[in-house]
Amino acid sequence: MSQAANLRERTVVIRPAIESDLVAINDIYNHYVLHSTCTYQEAPEPIEDRRQWLHRHGERHPVIVAEMGGCVVGWGSLSPYHARSAYRRTVENSVYVHHQHHRQGIGALILGDLIVRARHLGHHALIAGIDAEQIASMALHARFHFKKVGHFKQVGFKYDRWLDVIYIELMLDNSLNDRPPARQGAPSA
Ligand SMILES: CC(C)(COP(=O)(O)OP(=O)(O)OC[C@H]1O[C@@H](n2cnc3c(N)ncnc32)[C@H](O)[C@@H]1OP(=O)(O)O)[C@@H](O)C(=O)NCCC(=O)NCCS
Repeated sequence: MSQAANLRERTVVIRPAIESDLVAINDIYNHYVLHSTCTYQEAPEPIEDRRQWLHRHGERHPVIVAEMGGCVVGWGSLSPYHARSAYRRTVENSVYVHHQHHRQGIGALILGDLIVRARHLGHHALIAGIDAEQIASMALHARFHFKKVGHFKQVGFKYDRWLDVIYIELMLDNSLNDRPPARQGAPSA
């Protein structure tokens, strides 16, 4: 599945990530590791760890990229929310847009695409944990009707200060029917 959108006369293609995107994905992310509280990671992600992360994301947990003019300018992913089996239809999303390409509609394209994929894959609940200072991320998710479900106080400590995390959730499917999901790698029971 891939989609293209024309943002202010520039075509942005959303497509599944492949191995050759890893350096761009990691560079985009590591900027925020070093300069932002949007991730609580404090040391840059090594490329080998990023490679393993991509391989861990199977069919039910896609990684996508936004490509503009041949460059990866953002990425998003759906990750298992928890390894225990009864959480199998709950996923956590991540969205990162290159810091020089903010406010061009790329984050909205990525998140919109992730929501569509999550629905198609039969996931039921989509969760995001967002640092309380991240106005942009909160506003982006609010646009897609995520609702606040929790506020954890002072669970992070970065740049010499305590940080709060706000949990937000989007219900993807109102059915009570827990259709058996496609078999996946063996999570612990
Ligand atoms: C959050 C982030 C992904 C938004 O990406 P983006 O491409 O700049 O967002 P978009 O241009 O698609 O904006 C979509 C909407 O989000 C909201 N938004 C985005 N940035 C905002 C900001 N700085 N302040 C207020 N609202 C903002 C607006 O409602 C915006 O719609 P509008 O431009 O029509 O007003 C980007 O700022 C980012 O990568 N931040 C660092 C990483 C991060 O926090 N990721 C989320 C962790 S899951």
